[in-house]
Amino acid sequence: MSEKSDPTSSGLSRRGFLKGIGVSTAAAGVITAVKPIADAAANDQGVVGPGGVAITLKVNGQSKRLNIEPRVTLLDALRNRLDTTGPKKVCDRATCGACTVLLDGKPIYSCTMLAVEAEGHEITTVEGLGTPDKLSAVQKAFMDHDASQCGFCTPGFVTAATAFVRDHPNATVEQVRAGLGGNLCRCGTYAGMLLAVSDAAKKGAA
Ligand code: FES
Ligand code: FES
Repeated sequence: MSEKSDPTSSGLSRRGFLKGIGVSTAAAGVITAVKPIADAAANDQGVVGPGGVAITLKVNGQSKRLNIEPRVTLLDALRNRLDTTGPKKVCDRATCGACTVLLDGKPIYSCTMLAVEAEGHEITTVEGLGTPDKLSAVQKAFMDHDASQCGFCTPGFVTAATAFVRDHPNATVEQVRAGLGGNLCRCGTYAGMLLAVSDAAKKGAA
């Protein structure tokens, strides 16, 4: 495994990486968020908002059109406007990972991205990974290893773990621990989750 792909060798945990993303996204949000829609939605002064703007989000393979204020986070748009409640709102500040979704296959904290920034990207939530009848390999591993208590953190962990397993087949427990460092479980179900994700990684299936 190359140094770049080894989550334990870079000295940069996924938590640090995601927090960096969150901060830079928030800091740059005013510029980068409105840029893609600026041409279509800006007024004569080049300003977007504060009223609603029309955007299309691609969520779990389906295009969803909505009119939304530029200040709304992707998490709130998913939960409150698109009835996609797998991603959970817990800290709402890039700390816990409960809101994790995949953006073009990469895990992000949806509480720290504006919905308008997500236009043009593929958004995958836990609902898009598998179904009760056809669980994904990671979802099945969580079931098999009883890796959940209250379950509130589980969608975020399963989503983050899915991306991790895809990128790190055969990951060691230490690598899994570092790779999932961006998610917190208040029930402390870490032992089961480490086993579940290690198992899925060993099988090379997400
Ligand atoms: S709700 Fe987004 S990181 Fe906690
Ligand atoms: S299972 Fe309860 S917060 Fe993780």
